Amino acid sequence: MNESAAQDFCCGDCGNLLEITDASWNSSNPTALKSLWRERRTLNESLDLSGVWRFRELLPVPADEQRVVTLLEGNTPLYELPQSSRAFGVPRLYAKHQGMNPTGSFKDAGMTVAATFARQAGYKWVACASTGNTSASMAAYAARGGMRSLVLVPEGKISWSKLSQALDYGALTCQLRTDFDGCLRLLQELVRRAPVYQLNSINPFRLEGQKTLAFELLEQLDWEPPDHIIVPGGNLGNSSAIGKALLEMLDIGLIPRLPKLSIIQAAGANALVRTLRDAGGKQLVSVQAETRATAIRIGNPASWEKAVRVLRATGGACEEVSELEIAQAKAEIGAEGIGCEPASAVTLAGLKKMLRQGFVKPEETVVLVLTGNLLKDPDFTMEFHQGTLFQGTADERESAKLDRFRHPPVVIDATLDAVMKTLEQAEKSDPI
Ligand code: F0G
Repeated sequence: MNESAAQDFCCGDCGNLLEITDASWNSSNPTALKSLWRERRTLNESLDLSGVWRFRELLPVPADEQRVVTLLEGNTPLYELPQSSRAFGVPRLYAKHQGMNPTGSFKDAGMTVAATFARQAGYKWVACASTGNTSASMAAYAARGGMRSLVLVPEGKISWSKLSQALDYGALTCQLRTDFDGCLRLLQELVRRAPVYQLNSINPFRLEGQKTLAFELLEQLDWEPPDHIIVPGGNLGNSSAIGKALLEMLDIGLIPRLPKLSIIQAAGANALVRTLRDAGGKQLVSVQAETRATAIRIGNPASWEKAVRVLRATGGACEEVSELEIAQAKAEIGAEGIGCEPASAVTLAGLKKMLRQGFVKPEETVVLVLTGNLLKDPDFTMEFHQGTLFQGTADERESAKLDRFRHPPVVIDATLDAVMKTLEQAEKSDPI
């Protein structure tokens, strides 16, 4: 990777399929790599403490390794999901929780690499269009790297938590009266005119960093590939990055076979599903996106071609799930004591669907990628538990079937008697 690559990339041709590859990766010794990466977990250098840079043999590395912009991202937990395992009959079910990253989403893994190269290339400004998580992450890494950041977000369509992160990290935040797709179009025009470096997921350095999710996951599974990895699909950068990582690991000999990588979308933002179903994966079928899973409220995904390639290469499926299915799955993941944001919950909803279809078999090992933290969208969670999430929507009547998942707060007098009564009632209606 030469040093001018970051500059070259910012040519404004944002719809291309630019990808970083390095022929030397193929000659790596898989056994030596595995033990080197494991050993680094015991070391205290900041490059080794980062769950991204720990895998730097398979990443573009800046000229001066000490100049990386890092918040010690990655090293996220792989959780078992015992309740869902039992309920859906999949004994080997795991969640790779990328919401446990420094800014609460998977974006940090890509952002540390992209921000590092933006700084190395001498950019003063970085910019992105976002449904919220990218802007939060970019703003944080720009602040750490001494750069300024410009955020374009759809007005009224991103959660307050994500917006407040961008503000706190010092971004110049523009709420545009359009949707995410409109923000991205505008950004693409802007990067042609102004010396800003765009950090959306079409930026190849972002994808390189996001590959490490897959390296780390395989390490956590002692390099025994799961049968299925299931990810949410929005702009489709993450699925492309994970797919790239899986193919590279197979090439190098780090894994003996490929897991199937499946992508799940909200039914109201199902551009990839329709692209495959209605156009055989040959051209993008855009949609007017609408979903309460605002992180994936995207109708014109930039990396759709890469995602199609990855689905074909790994034999994965692409599915859509309804708003009710998303809300139920989010409550079920919450009940495991880990929680996630709505967009991440499409993975469990999708798994249930693929189990019914027989695409996933109960005896197979399944990993759900949870992309964002529960705290990213408190409005959704509060409205769900208070029973107002589906008010005035076509799903209102059917949403009654989710009542058993709701735990609304109760307002009572500040007396011991009132609390005791409430406790007794709860014990009766919902015994453990
Ligand atoms: N899950 C979460 C929590 C997200 O924030 C996103 C994307 C996705 C899934 C989908 O990932 O775009 O790589 O397919 N959020 C972007 C943003 C678009 O601006 O924060 P993808």
